[in-house]
Amino acid sequence: MQQLAESSGEGLPGGLVAEVLAEHCERHPGASAPRAFFAPGRVNLMGAHLDYNGGAVLPAAIDRGTIVVVSPRKDGLLRLTSSLEGGEHEFDLARLPAERTGTWADYPLGIARAMLSYVGAAPEGASFHFGGNLPIGAGLSSSASICVGTSHSLASIWGLELAPIDHVHIALSAEREFVGVQCGIMDPYAVGLARENHLLWLECRDVRYEHVPLDSERLSILVADTGVRRDLAASEFNQRVNECREAFEILRPEQPEAACLAEISMDTLGVCAEALGPVLGRRAAHVIAEVGRTATAREGLRRGRPEVLGEQMMEAHASLRGLYEVSCPELDRLVEAAGRCSEVFGGRLTGAGFGGACVFLVERGGEEAVSARLIESFRASFDRDPKVAVFKAGGGPFEIAL
Ligand code: GLA
Repeated sequence: MQQLAESSGEGLPGGLVAEVLAEHCERHPGASAPRAFFAPGRVNLMGAHLDYNGGAVLPAAIDRGTIVVVSPRKDGLLRLTSSLEGGEHEFDLARLPAERTGTWADYPLGIARAMLSYVGAAPEGASFHFGGNLPIGAGLSSSASICVGTSHSLASIWGLELAPIDHVHIALSAEREFVGVQCGIMDPYAVGLARENHLLWLECRDVRYEHVPLDSERLSILVADTGVRRDLAASEFNQRVNECREAFEILRPEQPEAACLAEISMDTLGVCAEALGPVLGRRAAHVIAEVGRTATAREGLRRGRPEVLGEQMMEAHASLRGLYEVSCPELDRLVEAAGRCSEVFGGRLTGAGFGGACVFLVERGGEEAVSARLIESFRASFDRDPKVAVFKAGGGPFEIAL
């Protein structure tokens, strides 16, 4: 078996695993020797939109994620079903399509294509069924969770000995090269290399990382999902990536030693304000200030002062709203309401934004009171409830003992 991150899988509801397994058997009649894997989702606490700008990020995996059940097939086909999304997809592994299908199947398909570049030809076919307890499209990285989970499962049934970092690379290439999102490196790293009760400090330019302890006795991670889903999210995300690229091209001549936008100084930004114009100026201002906030937050954690991290999260949200323009009224309402709760250290939108969820750092014991106040305030404005849940900083992928 390939190396899997250490985890007991204790937090995973047994009933849910049994359900996904039963659905696998029902939707893939005749499936034999099924195996099941778990890959977590993630929240990013700091370093918003810094990964593709070469800055450092501070995400954590959560104890919710994707359950992937897989069984081998003799006919060389890749067959995909899901409890969370509709449709059944079938492909011949010897002739995988080069074009994406535009459906959720593109993620596992992208993984199969990326993994085939490691092995040449598929040793055998595979039936996959996906389930789990991670909301899709909420900014909790359901895509990296599916990709990393698929990569672990496929490698297992194909008998490949891959290290956790190989799965991270496979997931990244599937999303970038096949699905076509110009995502940064944060999500598959956060999912694939997670350690329980830790955040991941990841320096994205030279890809160095370190696990930073999170005091789980004292702190809870609370996530409030607005339920807002924007189809345009991927294209707006790509637009931000391109805007940052353009801004860097304009700024670089003024500071030639900078290798990426995250390394540009506030002074350079000031000198080039006119050349950048208002939109690129706002995007660059967010990125450059977020670099400082993220470093301050990490230092606060190191000194056992979560209130420092909390403060930086609140400032990050204000910047994501005003300068990066990736928030929405629903997310803003939750952050405002949390700002009035004494048990909340801080919070911000998580993931790319444009809807999705907010993440809050809450004093242990205060979760229920905070949830009630967030729901009340959200309901007063939008006449419906957000979905609020408490998460632990969880470990990385593992095989579930069946
Ligand atoms: C999305 C991307 C990540 C990162 C965040 C913003 O989640 O997948 O790579 O850029 O947005 O921080």
